[in-house]
Amino acid sequence: MKAVSYEGKYKMSVSEHPKPKLKSPTDALLRVTTTGICGSDLHMYDGRTPLDKGTVVGHEIMGVIEQVGDAVSSIKEGNRVVLPFNIACGFCFNCHRGHTEACLTMNPDQPHAAYGYAGMGPYQGGQAEYVLVPHADFNCLKLPGTADDQWEDDFLLLSDVFPTAFHATELAHVSAGKTVAVFGAGPVGLLSAYCSILKGASEIYVVDYVRERLSKAEELGATPIDFAEGDPVEQIFTLRKKNRGIQESLRPGEEKMQGVDCAIDAVGYQARSDESPETENPTQVLENCLRVVNATGSIGLIGVYIAPDPGGKDKESKQGIYPFPIAEFFDKGITMGSGQAPVKKYNEYLRDLIVNGKAKPSKIVSHRIRIEDAPHAYEKFDKRIEGYTKVLIKFDKKAA
Ligand SMILES: NC(=O)c1ccc[n+]([C@@H]2O[C@H](COP(=O)([O-])OP(=O)(O)OC[C@H]3O[C@@H](n4cnc5c(N)ncnc54)[C@H](O)[C@@H]3O)[C@@H](O)[C@H]2O)c1
Ligand SMILES: [Zn+2]
Ligand SMILES: [Zn+2]
Repeated sequence: MKAVSYEGKYKMSVSEHPKPKLKSPTDALLRVTTTGICGSDLHMYDGRTPLDKGTVVGHEIMGVIEQVGDAVSSIKEGNRVVLPFNIACGFCFNCHRGHTEACLTMNPDQPHAAYGYAGMGPYQGGQAEYVLVPHADFNCLKLPGTADDQWEDDFLLLSDVFPTAFHATELAHVSAGKTVAVFGAGPVGLLSAYCSILKGASEIYVVDYVRERLSKAEELGATPIDFAEGDPVEQIFTLRKKNRGIQESLRPGEEKMQGVDCAIDAVGYQARSDESPETENPTQVLENCLRVVNATGSIGLIGVYIAPDPGGKDKESKQGIYPFPIAEFFDKGITMGSGQAPVKKYNEYLRDLIVNGKAKPSKIVSHRIRIEDAPHAYEKFDKRIEGYTKVLIKFDKKAA
């Protein structure tokens, strides 16, 4: 079968790999119809998250079940399914409590597992014609319709970025009427803005410096903020101060609350410096989140911070240790949540929003390609150029 594998820094290649075989009676074999390239894959592509050469990558996977093991009871050959990027057993202490992002049995090294990802266990990725699904009863989400229909791309986003973005809004306590600042207009940031809209947030700002991505944020209904035009936090304060509807209804002392209720970091440790975007500042977005939220506000840190980081500037940053303005965090009484998203907590509900016409996350998809074009797409997506925002690899006739 054809698959995309990591062959070294800035080198993904498409080559022949053995088709996976069932290893356990609880496994299923999935014929992939659509798979996504994720911003998380870029951390490996950039050589910033060490990965063994030859590993098949890809953790955003959907398709049609080709074969099931003898112990699989709820999923059958021919079922259309999408997989959460987290691989979970369903029976450990954490899975039992809904924390499938921290499954204790699927990865001997750490409390989480995923397809085709550094440090996430011995699982082959899904940017491939076939993928092996462990604990298929637990990990497959059944989908209506048939491969290649009007929902295909929306359903693919249920594997990661749509539930991940929804989780970001939960971590940041976004709810009806609240004000939200999202940093990063990649797929996760754009969908965090979209989920905030779905939840009824009253004001949503999206910060980035990639023009096409900011336009997409505006199209979704958010206010774009270009950090190349000046301090993004000050820009948000200024816009709020100019909003007469807000200013005319302030109560005594409320002028101290010119920031927002909720902030989302959808960038992570490879954040660009606001002042010189050609360089990285790993804590840029974290600091901006702390500044932009009002006292008692909440922050969702969904962009990843990973160690070891061979590209870190000094000994500490190579280990993922950064300065943190804890006094500001304490002083404002901020609540902050972080970590991998527990996709299974949300994917059924989000699927039903799609099926009932209440959500169309595929609005953010920019490119649909054949697997042969994956190395080229990685390059463009990594540089965030020519509108490459969300790339889906298709194994059917609809590929571009
Ligand atoms: N926690 C999880 O479960 C989970 C799941 C999926 C993705 N992620 C992470 O979410 C992050 C975003 O992923 P993505 O797929 O949207 O891809 P992405 O990397 O394309 O998006 C990041 C965006 O941030 C922008 N950016 C860089 N510096 C910035 C700054 N200082 N201020 C504002 N914007 C800035 C970039 O221009 C880019 O558009 C990545 O770190 C990814 O690994 C986390
Ligand atoms: Zn991902
Ligand atoms: Zn488990």
